[in-house]
Amino acid sequence: MEYMDGGTFKDLILNPAKFAKLDDSKCFDLMDQFTAGLAAIHEVGVIHRDLKPENMIVDFDFSKLKLIDVGIAVDLDPRYARKDERGEVKRVFTTNAGTQMWQPPELRELKSKHGGYSITSDIYGCGLVIQFVVRRKLPYTRVADWANN
Ligand SMILES: Nc1ncnc2c1ncn2[C@@H]1O[C@H](COP(=O)(O)OP(=O)(O)O)[C@@H](O)[C@H]1O
Ligand SMILES: [Mg+2]
Repeated sequence: MEYMDGGTFKDLILNPAKFAKLDDSKCFDLMDQFTAGLAAIHEVGVIHRDLKPENMIVDFDFSKLKLIDVGIAVDLDPRYARKDERGEVKRVFTTNAGTQMWQPPELRELKSKHGGYSITSDIYGCGLVIQFVVRRKLPYTRVADWANN
């Protein structure tokens, strides 16, 4: 992958001077690239599991956006996916992966026992990112907490 010289999407949206340079049409285009990138990894059976603005990077003029950090992604391909006791592909993962405030409720609530995760959990993360980009705030958490982490 090429070097993306515009930094992370988190830096961009938390920097008012930088964010002001991003007009609506460029912003919608970047969100198109974000959803297309996510669809592409889902099509090959991978769940990202750590969608958040710091795992999205842009180039200097905000014309390109890439999704990065597949460090905790999981593969749903039956050849590689984890299996349960009966040999069925396991779609539930015992993990505390991802940054908590971006996690879907099913993972946060069940985390201590058997955190559930599927492709639809990435859709939740995708919705949160888009909501954050449009409203510049998350529905339930103070942005300041995240900005300082
Ligand atoms: N292609 C790239 N171009 C520019 N910066 C990158 C690129 N890939 C990663 N980075 C930088 O490295 C940081 C960490 O990468 P990431 O894959 O998210 O690893 P982790 O979060 O596990 O440390 C990113 O936030 C970004 O600043
Ligand atoms: Mg990262």
